[in-house]
Amino acid sequence: MTETADVATHQQMIDTLSGDFRWGVATAAYQIEGAATEDGRTPSIWDTFCRVPWAIDNNDNGDVACDHYHRMPEDIALVQELGADSYRFSVAWPRIQPRGRGGVNEAGFGFYDRLVDEVLGRGLTPWLTLYHWDLPQELEDAGGWPVRDTAYRFADYAMLVFDRLKDRVAHWTTLNEPWCSAMHGYVHGVMAPGRRDFKAGMNAVHHLLLAHGLATQRMREAALDSTQFGITLNMSTAEPATESYLDREAARNADGMGVRIYLDPLVHGRYPDDVRHDLESRGAQLPVEDGDLEIISTPFDFLGVNYYFGQQFSGVDEHGRTTGEDGFPAQREVPFGAPTTAMGWEILPGKFTELLTRLSRDYPGLPLYITENGSAFDDEPDETGYVQDDGRTAYLAAHLAAVAAARQQGADVRGYFAWSLLDNFEWAYGYVKRFGLIRVDYPTQQRTIKQSGRFYRDTIRRVRGS
Ligand code: FCB
Repeated sequence: MTETADVATHQQMIDTLSGDFRWGVATAAYQIEGAATEDGRTPSIWDTFCRVPWAIDNNDNGDVACDHYHRMPEDIALVQELGADSYRFSVAWPRIQPRGRGGVNEAGFGFYDRLVDEVLGRGLTPWLTLYHWDLPQELEDAGGWPVRDTAYRFADYAMLVFDRLKDRVAHWTTLNEPWCSAMHGYVHGVMAPGRRDFKAGMNAVHHLLLAHGLATQRMREAALDSTQFGITLNMSTAEPATESYLDREAARNADGMGVRIYLDPLVHGRYPDDVRHDLESRGAQLPVEDGDLEIISTPFDFLGVNYYFGQQFSGVDEHGRTTGEDGFPAQREVPFGAPTTAMGWEILPGKFTELLTRLSRDYPGLPLYITENGSAFDDEPDETGYVQDDGRTAYLAAHLAAVAAARQQGADVRGYFAWSLLDNFEWAYGYVKRFGLIRVDYPTQQRTIKQSGRFYRDTIRRVRGS
């Protein structure tokens, strides 16, 4: 009940998101498509990682997922039913270019060709992401993102897609969340390819950024004037838990590794000195070659922001130690004490406003789009499949209001994509965690719009006055 009351209190603020504010929903290829071996698709690092026993909760995998590959027109109709004007999706590299080399696999490309036509046919704007984590397995076998050649392979793949779709797709995102690829994939080992090697992770950071720059340069040369390029980063706020020196250091390091190590080279053409120093003291470095930073700082048109939670840090662990088991300075996340979602992520819409105003302040002139924001809750469907998801609805309302507040404070936020259109394969959490505005009953593949989806639709209608 309180949550419903909360929703109402946000309406006035949300209503300021008028004019040409973009309203979208987001998905990613591996999380929804299924059809893992169809039409020439070869395995990505996620297909391989899902075969590692217990790498994924319940040993789930994306072989079938939401069967979107076969239900795409129905799903695009649902995007329209939610009242969104834009649809963010990603292209699976191993469908377009099996094994990560060579020309276009026509059968695999055909799916995205039809998808884009379906989206445009319904009057929606396609918002395409080239890389949402499905690296062809052969490229990982050749070294993956820690090796430089992968950046060049990515630029070649990007051009294959770009040449075919540039006449119909105006918004191109190179990478989704390189932090997750580098840190979760190569340092923490909790996401594909599941490696635990700090130095490899830092090489991956640089080569992911290089991949973005190379692809952006090449696509830009071949682009129509109206085409826009961007990159999507996951970001949170990093505050010190107290004003102590160690806590401030822990927060500085987290912000450096989470935000500035990406945005400083992208926008200013240099890595932050404090980050380089931190890395050196950890025996690692960014493998920068002459000319790389010019490539990485190729101008781009928008920054995609994925926000789920804010964070605060202490430089002292729960046992009072100032050095972690990895030998690096301790970095402990200290909860604010806010309510959490089913992911255990604290619900902190105010931090979202802070992040957006900070981005606009520190990296001015860069239009922002929220390319992901949303929440997982343990849904309880009624006998028809309908979910009265008060928690997710309240999260959505509060975070839309937070975006509106940031805009009032001067942040240049131009659109919002809800994560996600559908319940889907939530990476290492498998199918247990549900983020959809639409419920998917996996055994029957039945889709049912949840209360949060209705709220989103009604909000868009009201704000647009339609
Ligand atoms: C982001 C991912 C997205 C989804 C959400 C919950 O990190 O980009 O695919 O899993 O988290």
